[in-house]
Amino acid sequence: MTTALRRRAIRADLLDFTADPGLEDVNGPGVRWRPDHWLLIDEQGRIAGAQPASEPLQGDWQVEDHTGRLVLPGFIDTHLHSGQIDVIGAHGTALLDWLETHTFPAERRMGDAAHAEAISSLFLDALLATGTTTAAVFPTVHVSSVDALFAQAEARGMRLIAGKVLMDRHAPEFLRDEAAASDADNRALIERWHGRGRLAYAVTPRFAVTSTPEQMRLAGRLVGEVPGLYMQTHVAENTDEVRWVAELFPEARSYLDVYARFGLLHDRSIFAHGIWLDEADRQALAAAGAQVAHCPSSNLFLGSGLFDWAAAEAGGVNVSFGCDVGGGTSLSMLRTMADGYKVQAMRGRRLTAFKCLYTATRGAARALRLEQEIGSLDVGATADLAIWDWASDPVSRRRQQVARDLHDRLFAWMTLGDDRNLVATWVAGRPVVTRSQP
Ligand code: GUN
Ligand code: ZN
Repeated sequence: MTTALRRRAIRADLLDFTADPGLEDVNGPGVRWRPDHWLLIDEQGRIAGAQPASEPLQGDWQVEDHTGRLVLPGFIDTHLHSGQIDVIGAHGTALLDWLETHTFPAERRMGDAAHAEAISSLFLDALLATGTTTAAVFPTVHVSSVDALFAQAEARGMRLIAGKVLMDRHAPEFLRDEAAASDADNRALIERWHGRGRLAYAVTPRFAVTSTPEQMRLAGRLVGEVPGLYMQTHVAENTDEVRWVAELFPEARSYLDVYARFGLLHDRSIFAHGIWLDEADRQALAAAGAQVAHCPSSNLFLGSGLFDWAAAEAGGVNVSFGCDVGGGTSLSMLRTMADGYKVQAMRGRRLTAFKCLYTATRGAARALRLEQEIGSLDVGATADLAIWDWASDPVSRRRQQVARDLHDRLFAWMTLGDDRNLVATWVAGRPVVTRSQP
């Protein structure tokens, strides 16, 4: 299936991160900026090294000249929904109503295997076309939606985390599963997909509202049994939702504590949103080594609230980004980061472009325990990367010309850019998306 690779060398401006640069400091640590370098990629599709372009290449390399362009590690999106392509930009409602009105009917269609295959294919191609090479995805409650997504990701060589959505109550009949049957489905899917190539399974209770205590108990048991499993869910996104969870689980100290009680809070847990957490929740997240997938586009669009990133940072909580399509309005990490800046601006914080880019690359990789493989241009890492134009139109070109320094350039790029800036996306050392026009 995969054709034999040649060694390749890409000439471009290389940017990645060796450490967390901190929230607001434009002089923060860890920024590895290597302008006009060769990035060397070996026959296995791994990063073999980098050298200044002024030094001649030694040996036989297939040369890709992208002088004047930017190369970044592929972006990592830690929260989005493949079955929600059909509801992006649906007008007029907050979370719980949005789920009932728009989302559940769209997800219902993923029960059809041909539809699930077509949508999964469109979804992954669209993600790659925005420079995202790794994602943690919610398909739907249907086993066919999980099979379709994993099969399509495998065909593209992508690193992907996903799992069957669990929901055995407070959902329409047509989307509900049943606790014991969903556990059996999970086990069969794990057998089929977990650890196969670059794929990993995530036990995926949708949120505490839609799973019975029995389904949560089985989910926690499974997570404890199978090594390397992820857990992904939603937490504390919307105040009505938080109130409902408190009614459903009066014994729990908090919404997050519901998951903790069922053994679902651990170092491979991804909690989307986490807007309405308190200090004890943050301590529990940090102690477990779990992460919050911050989804600014979705939080603005659904009017859910403004995530307190500074408190998470102070509490030592891992934070990554999710576009949360279809609550979010774009698959693009550039748009997600730009919205992330604006959310923090509303809280009086000024996120740097360095922090945003770190979070979407090495930061997410670290939180997912995948730092050896993705998120950087380190020697030995898999060559998942994207090649970008600094500007794609007269206004952004002008803005780049007058930029004062690297941070100013990157911040303007992140704020003004979109997938028109994308030249190519590479997965495991080979191009999977290449823009046709110059
Ligand atoms: N909470 C439970 N399900 C969902 C979902 O599909 N999207 C969002 N944004 N929040 C949720
Ligand atoms: Zn979501």
